[in-house]
Amino acid sequence: MEKLIIEGGVPLNGVVEISGAKNAALPIMASTLLAPGVHKFSNVPRLRDIATMRILLSHMGAVSEHDGGELTVDTTSVNVLEAPYDLVKTMRASILVLGPLVARYGRARVSLPGGCAIGARPIDLHIKALELLGARVRIERGYVVAEANRLKGTVITFDQVTVTGTENVMMAAALADGTTVLENAAREPEVEALATYLNRMGAKISGAGTHEITIDGVVELRPSKCRIIPDRIETGTYMVAAGITGGHLVIRHCQPAHLEAVTRKLQLAGLRIEERNSEIEVWGIDNIHSVDVKTWPYPGFPTDMQAQFMALMTLGNGVSVITEQIFENRFMHVPELNRMGANIRLEGRSAIVRGVTELQGAPVMATDLRASASLVLAGLAAEGKTEVSRIYHLDRGYEVLDEKLRKVGARIKRVRE
Ligand code: EPZ
Repeated sequence: MEKLIIEGGVPLNGVVEISGAKNAALPIMASTLLAPGVHKFSNVPRLRDIATMRILLSHMGAVSEHDGGELTVDTTSVNVLEAPYDLVKTMRASILVLGPLVARYGRARVSLPGGCAIGARPIDLHIKALELLGARVRIERGYVVAEANRLKGTVITFDQVTVTGTENVMMAAALADGTTVLENAAREPEVEALATYLNRMGAKISGAGTHEITIDGVVELRPSKCRIIPDRIETGTYMVAAGITGGHLVIRHCQPAHLEAVTRKLQLAGLRIEERNSEIEVWGIDNIHSVDVKTWPYPGFPTDMQAQFMALMTLGNGVSVITEQIFENRFMHVPELNRMGANIRLEGRSAIVRGVTELQGAPVMATDLRASASLVLAGLAAEGKTEVSRIYHLDRGYEVLDEKLRKVGARIKRVRE
């Protein structure tokens, strides 16, 4: 196991380059199951989750290569229509192969993801939607077993906004017979990016990025290629890094329009932010203003930025109420931040963050991807040394985070535990 050792107190200064979005690449990689042949992608980040999806696809018979940011996936010889528990348990996004397998092969056996640190995270909405499309689904010994002749288009209204639920069903509907309308669909940029790639493959999808998506099923899809969009959560994380260290960062290869809600809240917190077409310049300040935040599906404030924003608020000039409305248990970073001298009290789904003047470096433990980012951010601002252990969580979603931070002046190094 590895850990990060951070000497805090250095205002970050320089240029950070954003990588491709994990949560765009994963559904697009799963969509290659819909069209046998060679698919080509660029700007694909080198992350543990991408490697896990490659292992899952190769278990099914696909062949892939990831060289630099270029990823090719050849699904010509896919012949194993299942996602085993030992893979799915390490990455919930494996559930994204369910829709494509049922639509293209008429059969799928995918392990139930099981819960994770941030919540139960059921997939009932995925299953209900596939059944409405005509799939016969049963749960058998911890696996979802789904079968279908040709899926049939219909109107599906999601009881709750679900990102991967919308993506799974959009992929399945692409090969269904007739038209499917998804109502109360997720509007995330990653959903829109998936629809763009599906249309490149010959699908007929409109309305992606809005709450209503229409999919006219086609008989077959052909492999294509695309560039993965920038990671808006990585972008927001580095914006907070500039703010919390009172530094000045130019964040390149990003898409400012994808994180307006985050930018607005950071400006209210006092950061000076200038947006240009593919870069954002951020100046931190010494006197951080305490700001309330409620997480909400896109275009609301993303739950994936909640822990990082909380790190900033621990140094606010007043009290910030942060309410997590998407997941039921996404406050694991709170006890660790409090060990660094923060003053945070939990009340139901809200964290009451009373700003303190200084954080102290301490040994802390990462519990999930975004919580670990929050601890790194706190360590960058804290007085003294912070050791963040279990950083495999970080490596799931941040490409060479310590390297990118060192380049802009952070005193951070990765060591074996
Ligand atoms: C996606 O997860 C992201 N993962 C998550 O990012 C992100 O936090 C989440 O969306 C919310 O934005 C990927 O895109 C791979 P949901 P997903 O279905 O699709 C409930 C990260 O940090 N729900 O939108 O699994 C669910 O429990 C990860 O990169 C059901 O009840 O999230 C949650 O409370 C973490 N039944 C809410 O809906 C279902 O069938 C939203 O979940 C599905 C979801």
